[in-house]
Amino acid sequence: MNILITGGAGFIGSNLALALQKQALNRFGSGQGYNLIIIDNLSSGNLENLKEYKGNFIRGDVSKKESFTQLKKEKFEVIFHQASITDTTYSDDKKMISDNVEGFKNVLNFANDSGARLVYASSAAVYGNGPLPMKENQKLFPLNAYGISKCEADKIVKETIEKKNSQIIGLRYFNVYGPGEEHKGKSASMIWQLSQKIKKGKPLRIFKYGEQSRDHIYVKDIVAANLRAMESNARGIFNVGTGKPTTFNRIIEILNGIFNTHFKPEYFGLPPALAEKYQNHTHADTSFFSKILKWKSRFSIEEGIKDYFSSIK
Ligand SMILES: NC(=O)c1ccc[n+]([C@@H]2O[C@H](COP(=O)([O-])OP(=O)(O)OC[C@H]3O[C@@H](n4cnc5c(N)ncnc54)[C@H](O)[C@@H]3O)[C@@H](O)[C@H]2O)c1
Repeated sequence: MNILITGGAGFIGSNLALALQKQALNRFGSGQGYNLIIIDNLSSGNLENLKEYKGNFIRGDVSKKESFTQLKKEKFEVIFHQASITDTTYSDDKKMISDNVEGFKNVLNFANDSGARLVYASSAAVYGNGPLPMKENQKLFPLNAYGISKCEADKIVKETIEKKNSQIIGLRYFNVYGPGEEHKGKSASMIWQLSQKIKKGKPLRIFKYGEQSRDHIYVKDIVAANLRAMESNARGIFNVGTGKPTTFNRIIEILNGIFNTHFKPEYFGLPPALAEKYQNHTHADTSFFSKILKWKSRFSIEEGIKDYFSSIK
């Protein structure tokens, strides 16, 4: 089976590629099973993430149609689309939207042409500061260009699914954390940011009063949700979170427990320029995904953080 992963040098894409490689080995033995191909322009991804990857790698930009010329020689059964500019503070809003949306359209057309099942990454950013818990059918309020680009892709998918019998499933990831996110710098999870401050003995500065919350989901669960989506024939757009948000104060408590430290948060005011664009809470209503795909996240926040830091010690 030929599988294409766009953005496979990134955090989630590389975890997914390595999990597929492992699944193929377990199911079919060495040299059999999945023929994996990654396409990534390395704009944020890191080849270090793919040290153990044995499939093919193409350096290419999915927002450019010509990048698909080489890929057209293969027939793909499944495409995982993870490629995206993911830095929400990216300075050029127009470029971010056009690259992400053009990239999405090219991948969608390519999937349609090759008859592949498309599993793509959407985001909780589409909900902005909308009502909680966030449900797939509620009104969307993206707060930045990144969220707008994800809304655009989801809109195209809804229209496509209504018109054609395309095999498309969108996964609105909530806040993902886990091994392989270091290269994302300021865009890495709050869990990674705070753990690095603890490691360097720096103050844990967070916005007043640390009661903002995130539905943090461990990358192993995100990978499992993608594999589940690949193997089902469900179509549509689904939240992928844990349904259990955690405050920043609580994350600091958990990290102190893991690292055996006693850091206290230092609170400071949200800069007024940021206030309008800041997402205060994310909280997934996970009932649609669990009803249709019969799947639930496995790791609690405590278990996920423990697994994360034991794996990179
Ligand atoms: N990490 C999260 O918390 C989170 C939450 C919601 C949604 N998502 C989505 O999940 C997907 C993966 O995110 P991630 O956290 O792994 O980020 P990442 O930045 O680590 O990965 C994105 C990858 O896409 C590549 N890329 C970017 N533009 C490209 C292009 N035009 N052509 C080819 N490759 C390109 C980058 O080089 C990178 O390897 C993204 O679509 C992101 O929007 C992530």
